[in-house]
Amino acid sequence: MNDSFRYDVGIVGLGYVGLTLATVLAEVGMKVLGVEKRKDVVDLTNAGKPHFSEAGIDEALSRVVKSGNLVSAQDFNPSAPCDVYIITVGTPLNADGKARLDMIEAASRQVAENMPDGALVILRSTVKIGTARTVVAPILEASGKSFAIAMCPERTLEGKALQELRELPQIVGADSQDVRDRAAAVFRRLTNTVVQVATLETAEIIKLVDNTYRDVQFAFANEVARVCEVYGVNAHEVIASGKLGYKRTNVPLPGLVGGPCLEKDPHILFQSARDRGIALEITQSSRLVNERQPYETVDFILAEMARRGLTDTAEIALLGMAFKGVPATDDLRGSMSLKVLDALAKARPGLRVRIYDPVVPAADLQAQVPGHTAFDSLAEAVEGASVVIIANNHPDLGRKQPIDLHELMGPKGFIYDYWNHFSNLSPAELGRSYFAVGNIKRTV
Ligand SMILES: NC(=O)c1ccc[n+]([C@@H]2O[C@H](COP(=O)([O-])OP(=O)(O)OC[C@H]3O[C@@H](n4cnc5c(N)ncnc54)[C@H](O)[C@@H]3O)[C@@H](O)[C@H]2O)c1
Repeated sequence: MNDSFRYDVGIVGLGYVGLTLATVLAEVGMKVLGVEKRKDVVDLTNAGKPHFSEAGIDEALSRVVKSGNLVSAQDFNPSAPCDVYIITVGTPLNADGKARLDMIEAASRQVAENMPDGALVILRSTVKIGTARTVVAPILEASGKSFAIAMCPERTLEGKALQELRELPQIVGADSQDVRDRAAAVFRRLTNTVVQVATLETAEIIKLVDNTYRDVQFAFANEVARVCEVYGVNAHEVIASGKLGYKRTNVPLPGLVGGPCLEKDPHILFQSARDRGIALEITQSSRLVNERQPYETVDFILAEMARRGLTDTAEIALLGMAFKGVPATDDLRGSMSLKVLDALAKARPGLRVRIYDPVVPAADLQAQVPGHTAFDSLAEAVEGASVVIIANNHPDLGRKQPIDLHELMGPKGFIYDYWNHFSNLSPAELGRSYFAVGNIKRTV
């Protein structure tokens, strides 16, 4: 590499967001440096191997590393600056529920130290409103160098990230047209649709609103399920029939609501509002409904076990550990399946649950969820279990009909399905031992 070498883009943080973005930018011919503090991730990336499962990334990453367009390192190289810096580090909540800023601050300091005069810095992580202006910009300013700053939030779905990075409209927020145009030029390499918005905060709020909107909708579906349950009505039928040919409602199906984004973004939105003295009641209540659901439903499962005389030694199989099954992912962060496990363990300390996921290999599952027994096949996990809990919406978990699952299960057993995989079947086909969220009417 000669002394005048410059990268087009430097990305700080090669997690789900950083690595997928780095890969697609390198695919369109940009010279990308991915800076990642975890050495194992740097080594894997430079070997062309992704550190998570994502549709299409194995081939794409291997191609861009071979072509030399994507290089990873644990820090920036002072003799090879970048024209554009993109910050994609994590912003999880602290133990006290507040949005963490330390990783954004550390990444901003790294960029400030290494950027040349006039660099464009893009914040892509999901942040509290005002972070770009009051946290990132002051750190960059302290370097004494000139810079431009834009907020361009990531909105892709895990499992479809590579496709969506080329298809979704990209939000570009900055305070001046000149900076918006510079940031838009980066994303126009990927997609024709760039949506420029007036300020940094506008873009920050768009990201939080998009995810909170989904959380609120799912919470309403879960609320519909709760009222249907107390009236002995099937919520699946209410929701599906109510919107058939009737476009004015579009209630989603009830189910576990989690994942690395939905578990925190609404919190970040209402904390941002609270900082300015505003309470966001709908946002806050929706989180309450979605966060309470695993505990409330486990209460039902335990009561049903007691009703059937299933003792504390009865085996429980929990199927679907990733936070979602569609699009498929191996990501367990924020997974409500873990909350279901937590609720079970609180009720029955020392309980060892059989766990299975169609995407996550048993060895990885065992390492990530110690204290339980992981299986590589659904049939093995279910064999002899008295309670089968279906916790995510991966289509593989809906392939074996309840009647076939019962063949494998122990006597007096029942199925509890968080995703209504089988609610389209008639009660006769389901038998008396199938319950789903919003469908807990007992037929015996
Ligand atoms: N996962 C998603 O699908 C998704 C979607 C949209 C937005 N987001 C948001 O994007 C951000 C990143 O999410 P993610 O899922 O990629 O997070 P992640 O935790 O998977 O990845 C962040 C990476 O940054 C690295 N890192 C942290 N500080 C660093 C530093 N100073 N220097 C170098 N590397 C550093 C970490 O080691 C980690 O590998 C978050 O704010 C998240 O809310 C995520």
